[in-house]
Amino acid sequence: MKALQGMSLALALLAILEASAQVLVAGKCPRPAVVQFFDASRYLGKWYEIQKLPVLFQQGECVTATYSRQGTGGDMEVLIKELLADGSTYAYVGSAMVTNSSEPAKMEVYYSPTSLPSPYWVLATDYNGHALAFGCIDYGLFHAQFAWVLSRQPTLVRKTLKDLQDLLASGGVNVDKMTPTNQNKAFCRAMV
Ligand SMILES: *[C@@H]1O[C@H](CO)[C@@H](O)[C@H](O)[C@H]1NC(C)=O
Repeated sequence: MKALQGMSLALALLAILEASAQVLVAGKCPRPAVVQFFDASRYLGKWYEIQKLPVLFQQGECVTATYSRQGTGGDMEVLIKELLADGSTYAYVGSAMVTNSSEPAKMEVYYSPTSLPSPYWVLATDYNGHALAFGCIDYGLFHAQFAWVLSRQPTLVRKTLKDLQDLLASGGVNVDKMTPTNQNKAFCRAMV
């Protein structure tokens, strides 16, 4: 009976999360390999979001993430900007903290002092062209996947995009659910 109740609770939670446009997959979070010797100082500056797995708290287009240094070590502040459907721009700030200095590519991002952290792992980057970030949260019987393909420019070479998608897929990520972010210059002109 207890197990049955637990199961129906899990299913109810699944329904709620699914309605909120997260990508949910059965089983535990995959643990793909991250960038070795990640250098946060070279990751600083502006990144354009090219593709992502749908996220409830990020519904806009023209999304950019600008990283700046915060304190010593690998911790960074991130300023996210996006264009909402009503034509207004929206910006918010998060703190990306390295929890284990032996694994600087694995960060936890806090969007407010009281919010739960979102994992942010850098799986690939050449620092001045492209980056691939991944996050995952376990919910017992299933997990929610997050992924972002980023570029220093509003566009990304098709071959690079394909390589990053292949890397994600081999790491157990549901790349079929990825959606492109509109970075059209005219469409995004309000973003300055
Ligand atoms: C930190 O990362 C290293 C390398 O992956 C690992 O061996 C170690 O157990 C981690 N430390 C903690 C406290 O998780």
